[in-house]
Amino acid sequence: MSRVTLIDLIYLFSATTFVLALKGLGSPKRARLGNMVAAFGMVVAVVATFFRPVDGHAIYHVPLMILGIVIGLVVAVPVARFVKMTAMPQLVAIFNGVGGGAAALVSITEFMHIKATHPATYVALEVLLGVLIGTFSFAGSAISFAKLQELMTGRPVTYPGQQVINGIVGLAALVTIGWVLVSASQTMLWVLLGLAAVLGVLFVLPIGGADVPVLISLLNAFTGVAVAASGFTLGSNLLIVAGTLVGASGLLLTRLMSKAMGRSLPNILFSAFGATVTASGATQRADGRSVRSGSPEDIAIMLGFASRVVFIPGYGLAVSQGQHVLRELADLLESRGVEVFYGIHPVAGRMPGHMNVLLAEANVPYEQLVEMDEANSELQTADVALVVGANDTVNPAAVDDKTSPIYGMPIIHADLAENVVFLKRSMRPGFAGIENELLYNPKTTLVFGDAKDTLTKMVAAVKAG
Ligand code: TAP
Repeated sequence: MSRVTLIDLIYLFSATTFVLALKGLGSPKRARLGNMVAAFGMVVAVVATFFRPVDGHAIYHVPLMILGIVIGLVVAVPVARFVKMTAMPQLVAIFNGVGGGAAALVSITEFMHIKATHPATYVALEVLLGVLIGTFSFAGSAISFAKLQELMTGRPVTYPGQQVINGIVGLAALVTIGWVLVSASQTMLWVLLGLAAVLGVLFVLPIGGADVPVLISLLNAFTGVAVAASGFTLGSNLLIVAGTLVGASGLLLTRLMSKAMGRSLPNILFSAFGATVTASGATQRADGRSVRSGSPEDIAIMLGFASRVVFIPGYGLAVSQGQHVLRELADLLESRGVEVFYGIHPVAGRMPGHMNVLLAEANVPYEQLVEMDEANSELQTADVALVVGANDTVNPAAVDDKTSPIYGMPIIHADLAENVVFLKRSMRPGFAGIENELLYNPKTTLVFGDAKDTLTKMVAAVKAG
């Protein structure tokens, strides 16, 4: 067997590990293993690449490649290890942007190579698509990072004629591709690069901070396509397979997230969701209804009488980092004969699987994590629904109010429980910026304060009770 065939077989092995890894990532129990399998496959592929001949010669620039790998490791490993759970979407944005940028650089290098070795007008379409999509993804991811890191406003940035301007820039990029295809002009390649970067920025500006994770998933799909285009350019089957897997899974994830929010993808991308806050933030409504607040000790007494308690975690739990104390409270209640489970909304938090990962970090048993539909069928018999830092995902307006921007989003029906308790710091709304009628429901009690502090006080009060 020739060396090239052997390396292709190794690449096939790596591609198989990527597929198996995706399967593993589909369940919280096997996700860690899935990640390890993919990492192993990637290491094998990278090592094999060093032995792959290029045009019949040994691979060039080995020290430079090793230097690149070392720089990548030195930067990425500590960043990934020490990143906070709430900053995970930003991290994904950076990694995704770097992937898109790398694919664009590969395409630019290949453009130079083709120009030097082929007739003047021969430029392959995949090279130019690699530049366009990779640069778009890089610039879009950079703005997504800036929004999530609060380096700029997280609210949608809108202006008149925005979509028309985006359309014109997009069209100009396509015309430029045609131009470069027939002229092989290097100047026009830089114009294409500039247009792609501007388009990436303009595309992300009108998207609100909490919709950005959906966008990142979409940009991730674009990066996958750019990488697959690089694969065609370089004649690498592994890059084609890996890029296609990233592209397809990114697209599926985008679809799943849109569905879980009950919104269409165009609505997420073009409606500037969250641009206006309509919630009054008042503890008393114009019709005389007001919120009822209680102390952690009051809730501890309520929990003492309960036989079934459902925890409904949301973004605020991640912000307060109260997951360990929440688990302590759950264990305490269980030891006293209370049945406890967690109702998990698919888009609770700010990224897919946010709550699963957060609670897994606190070693909450997987069996206690109950998905939305199942949780809803159990809530009617719950004595207490304890909503910890969640808001939109339990807002009945999604079902009752046709005019609400979240109308159609599936929710966890906390309102079905005998008692509802919200742990939050203020009357500020959730990401959608809208009123939540459940806060004013007579069966609801609000405990104001940071969720971790409140949970700590509740644990102490249950222990003392
Ligand atoms: P939100 O509706 O955003 O509500 C979070 C709540 O947490 C707020 O009411 C906030 O109130 C409270 N909070 C924040 N920090 C807190 C702290 N330290 N202690 C206690 N409470 C705290 O969150 P959710 O219910 O998880 O819903 C997620 C939202 O994000 C949905 O609108 C969803 O569509 C959107 N979204 C999610 C995703 C994914 S994939 N997860 C993607 C895109 C969009 P206070 O400020 O008063 O404390």
